Amino acid sequence: MHVLSVSSLKGGVGKTTVALGLASAAFSRGLRTLVIDLDTQCDATTGLGAIGEFSETSADVLQSPRHNIVHRAIVTSSWGKNQSGVIDVMVGSPRSQGHDNPYPTLGEVWRLETALTKVERDYDLVIIDTPPSINGLTRTAWVASDRVLIVSEPSLFSVVATDRTIHAVEELRKGLTPRLGVLGILINRLKPSAPENEFRVNEIRERYGDLVIPTQIEERSSIQQATGSARAIHSWPGQSSQEIAAQFDEVLDFALESFTTQPVRRPTRAERKAQRVTRIMRGQTLDTVLALEAEEGEELSPEEALGL
Ligand SMILES: Nc1ncnc2c1ncn2[C@@H]1O[C@H](COP(=O)(O)OP(=O)(O)O)[C@@H](O)[C@H]1O
Ligand SMILES: [Mg+2]
Repeated sequence: MHVLSVSSLKGGVGKTTVALGLASAAFSRGLRTLVIDLDTQCDATTGLGAIGEFSETSADVLQSPRHNIVHRAIVTSSWGKNQSGVIDVMVGSPRSQGHDNPYPTLGEVWRLETALTKVERDYDLVIIDTPPSINGLTRTAWVASDRVLIVSEPSLFSVVATDRTIHAVEELRKGLTPRLGVLGILINRLKPSAPENEFRVNEIRERYGDLVIPTQIEERSSIQQATGSARAIHSWPGQSSQEIAAQFDEVLDFALESFTTQPVRRPTRAERKAQRVTRIMRGQTLDTVLALEAEEGEELSPEEALGL
């Protein structure tokens, strides 16, 4: 099972659209796919056609990631059936807001990861739609993830937001979860055949180099139509939606390749120490722990790390 968070510190750039587009690509090629809706707006839940009253939601899972609760918070999308694919959603809730603490504790940020161990064998790909912040909810999502996909507009307008996101992912990777990495920056809403396209993409490439994903997602009204009708872009009729679907297929390929071809990094000495510290500091806030990690670097002996 691979886990991908879709994030950006800006709202309205297309996180949910990208999360759903990738889910559509995964489902249509037969992958068992779970979308986790951590955004309090619950747009991913709506886009997957899961509408109604739910006994449990992702807010309950974050409260208590027990087996029964996790399973009750996951429902089947109304996107339909295909031969082997599965498309489920862990439904969102406005009540998740209560978990969006700017200073989450270490115990809190591990809860989704704990929850995912209960469904480890049920899915090939998990896609997490996150809120536009780096508070508790987003960091909880990242701790449960292998990769973070950063969504950006086709302009350098949100460069501060992108820089902060990359920095925050890196900080978590070093201090807490070595398997985490940035998948790349996905440029969304590129205007088809606009003359300034190439210029804009190059401008972003100049700053972020290979972090920019080779495929861009174009701006097309068919995306809005499919989302608004709670349908998968891959099953929405018309030439335009098929072109967009092909773009999401390419981004999915890029993600799957990153999961399987990037060498599994053996944790460094500092990272192994971080994991030990993690276990003994569960009640501390995440920021306290990350600050200590950054300060202490390699110098701490195992005994010191354990507080002996
Ligand atoms: N590539 C695109 N083409 C057309 N409309 C888009 C595209 N990406 C996003 N949108 C629209 O922009 C709005 C914001 O997108 P959304 O995915 O909800 O952003 P976020 O989740 O980051 O807040 C939505 O109305 C969505 O339909
Ligand atoms: Mg959204």
